[in-house]
Amino acid sequence: MNAKKLVIAIDGPAASGKSTTARLVAERLGYLHVDTGAMYRAITLKVLKFGLKPDDVGNVGRLLTSTRVELQRTNDSVRVLLDGEDVTEGIRTAEVTKAVSAVSQIRQVREAMVREQRKMAEGQGIVLEGRDIGTIVFPKAHLKIFMVANLEARARRRQDELKAKGINANTRLILEEIQERDELDTTRDESPLKRAADAIELDNSNLTINEQVEFVLKKAKRLLEQNEVK
Ligand code: CDP
Ligand code: CDP
Repeated sequence: MNAKKLVIAIDGPAASGKSTTARLVAERLGYLHVDTGAMYRAITLKVLKFGLKPDDVGNVGRLLTSTRVELQRTNDSVRVLLDGEDVTEGIRTAEVTKAVSAVSQIRQVREAMVREQRKMAEGQGIVLEGRDIGTIVFPKAHLKIFMVANLEARARRRQDELKAKGINANTRLILEEIQERDELDTTRDESPLKRAADAIELDNSNLTINEQVEFVLKKAKRLLEQNEVK
């Protein structure tokens, strides 16, 4: 579509629609989509498999040195590989969700993941989504979106996702889980979730998926039409 390649950063709290939007925007632009949350989830799965406590900084740090997380593109999806094993489904369990914020606070974990994420962007257009993309991973990203939606909308969306998988979850518990994780992610010392000063905030509480994707695409296309993008 265009020889210029953008780095697009999408950050925001849990269930705000980052993955859905990033995947569709990347598809439309022919860019790579990187779900950085999936990477933190994969490390967390390994921590739990090894019976470590999520906040055991020393042992988690040691475990990292022999851990490989990869995002492998297939024709129609992205698979998450942990030491070569496909864990795409395994990283979405309630146990991993509960432990992931603690593991993500560990500095060595963040350093290793950020290094990988920066490598992935070399020489190609990319849409990354997470918590610290616009602030830490790519502070010079061409386009930064901070996605938000009210708590009720986010909890309802998660509940609908679970229902589609045949799981009937309690609304209050989902709401609490989201709230708890947002609290941990925004108050931690290492790369807390916050809006980068130059990020565009997009509240999609009352938007359709298509509307929010078009919003991001419009901004991206405008940048691609300008000549300053390097
Ligand atoms: O459940 P949801 O899709 O909202 O979360 P996720 O994007 O899969 O991220 C899971 C967790 O990983 C977050 O709650 C953060 O604790 C952590 N994370 C992070 O610390 N930094 C990132 N760039 C992405 C995720
Ligand atoms: O990545 P993050 O945790 O921020 O959100 P997600 O995994 O994309 O989940 C958001 C859920 O809300 C998905 O099931 C979407 O289909 C749904 N949704 C949305 O993303 N945006 C809307 N405007 C409405 C629904």
